[in-house]
Amino acid sequence: MASERYQPLQGMSDLFAPEIHQWQTLEQTAREVLHRYQFTELRTPILEYEEVFLHSLGSTTDIVQKEMFAFEDRGGRRVALRPEGTAGVMRFLSSLGPDAQTARVFYMGPMFRSERPQAGRKRQFHQIGVESMGAPDPRLDAECILLQLDLLAAWGLDDAALQLNTRGSKARHAEIAGQYREALSERIDELCDDCKRRIHTNVLRVLDCKQSECRAIVESLPGVPDLVSTEDRAYFDAVCACLDRVSAKYTVQPRMVRGLDYYEHTVWEVTHPALGAQDALAGGGRYAVQMGGTGLSGVGFAAGMERTLMALEGRLSTSGPACDLWLVSLGEAALDFNFALCRELRVAGLHCGMSMVARSMKAQMRAANRVGARFALILGESELESGQGQLKNMEDGSQQDIPLEAAAQAVGRIVRA
Ligand code: HAM
Repeated sequence: MASERYQPLQGMSDLFAPEIHQWQTLEQTAREVLHRYQFTELRTPILEYEEVFLHSLGSTTDIVQKEMFAFEDRGGRRVALRPEGTAGVMRFLSSLGPDAQTARVFYMGPMFRSERPQAGRKRQFHQIGVESMGAPDPRLDAECILLQLDLLAAWGLDDAALQLNTRGSKARHAEIAGQYREALSERIDELCDDCKRRIHTNVLRVLDCKQSECRAIVESLPGVPDLVSTEDRAYFDAVCACLDRVSAKYTVQPRMVRGLDYYEHTVWEVTHPALGAQDALAGGGRYAVQMGGTGLSGVGFAAGMERTLMALEGRLSTSGPACDLWLVSLGEAALDFNFALCRELRVAGLHCGMSMVARSMKAQMRAANRVGARFALILGESELESGQGQLKNMEDGSQQDIPLEAAAQAVGRIVRA
């Protein structure tokens, strides 16, 4: 085994064939769906000032406190690898002026969280996410949820379940947190050690705690929709009515609050039975973020690509783009001829390949089979002399002569037929 230094870091992976073809299918399908919904791709840097995340995600969230890869760069600036995509998007949009308020962007790429690696939990993972900007409006939220559902369906995940809730508007968050703090303080001795601390630092985190002792207590508390204001409740009901209007399926989870501080109003998570303990394959919600002097409101979500692929359980094909033709060369003169022909065919748009060094016929045919070539053009000294190459159909084994004078045209016609 290679020394540890030449392995990827723990919780990080190289992505290559055959799985990479599944990744590319996910990305390509996502682009099609996202363009249909009029979203434009945004690529932000992976490294940002730490402040960008502290400020938007909330300094007491688990992501910021325990999971960020943050460090000082050579110039003494605090920087961090992005743990999620929304903060960087907000940083970018805050420089756009009024256009930011109606922007619709999507992103795909790696995110970094220093969590303990386990199945479905990586330190470098990948998200496909969207941010749809605009002041709170139930229709915008419902549209974003429907995009989430349509994207999952396009990926072949009709069996994913949407869990929905509201956090109410920010103006009431402190009051709601106070009510939970009061209720939980009465039973503080029964909570896990983390939650004993969370009651004071970020009480809503107690609601997501996975420990069974905490779960039982949380289930006895009132749900958030029962604690929000009448207007906020009407907002949530309007989101649900929009979803009902198009018969979208969802379940209200009244104590689901999600782990990021920027959320208000609608929040959701997508779960899938194939995922086990880390069962959320996507999550999102409405948020309000202050970036520099600019206030930004929007709604968005991100799907984890690793977990999406786990949920798909190998349902996507692992084959790469088809190879039309493999050029087989026996002898130096055939290698020279095929070298030029291969280039001509590639320029003409064919997927083709050849060995650039002399190899036995057997080895070259094996290579043709390995890449799944549909045809092989076999060329040796006698073919060069007669001016006729042998084109073999790899599926049925039939062969036909190809005039070498106009080889590219003749091969192209047959391969494309
Ligand atoms: P999140 O729920 O933290 O939300 O992450 C979204 C998805 O990323 C999760 O559902 C999961 O599939 C995946 N994910 C998160 N952590 C890991 C990990 N350690 N390993 C593998 N997959 C992981 C956000 O990131 C928000 N920015 C979503 C959003 C966009 N809200 C509004 N706009």
